[in-house]
Amino acid sequence: MLVAPSLLSADFLNLGKEVETICATTCDYLHIDVMDGHFVPNLTIGPLVVEKIAKIATKPLDIHLMTRNSEFFVKLFAPLKPAFLSVHIEEVCHLDRLIEEIKSQGIKAGVVLNPHTSLENLRYILPKIDLVLLMSVNPGFGGQKFIPYTLQKLRDLRILRDELNPQCLIEIDGGISAQNIVLLKENGADMVVAGSYIFGAKDYYEAVESLRI
Ligand code: DX5
Ligand code: ZN
Repeated sequence: MLVAPSLLSADFLNLGKEVETICATTCDYLHIDVMDGHFVPNLTIGPLVVEKIAKIATKPLDIHLMTRNSEFFVKLFAPLKPAFLSVHIEEVCHLDRLIEEIKSQGIKAGVVLNPHTSLENLRYILPKIDLVLLMSVNPGFGGQKFIPYTLQKLRDLRILRDELNPQCLIEIDGGISAQNIVLLKENGADMVVAGSYIFGAKDYYEAVESLRI
């Protein structure tokens, strides 16, 4: 299982230290949540701060855009050269074009689905993308409870992914801890995002390790 700690739950007054500490664990990516106060009812950080994080991070960035006007935000964040840049399917009208734009810059392209969003619209774009990010909470905040019905969605997505693009990773985000990691693995997740579970732990290293099953 690949593990991407979400910096949303880090101590922002000591962000540099937090980035160093989390990068010293066995995590695979740093998950960065970009919120615009429109697509979701919260605001986080912009490219100025993410650029500083990228400078000291020794793990590649996994940027999750929770924004209206994703085309604009892709232009802001692509120059930071994250490993993955993901946009919400509910928000983008010309998704094929935007995926092409992300990939043309050598960045892996991801598509994110809110918990209730049907997998149906993924069918034609799936062969072209590198990652599907399934939200297992309503986006906007850390520390929420895992929504149980997203487990069935994960199973359905795995079947679709195996049929259409076996290379594409399935990532799941929200309410993830050592308590549900085995279930997520069994049901098809390749990569998990965890914020409050990891940054709420005394020992980040141990917390990351407990998810790497
Ligand atoms: C929520 C974000 C998540 C968040 C997860 O909108 O996309 O990445 O940080 O937090 P936890 O792991 O606490 O549910
Ligand atoms: Zn996220």
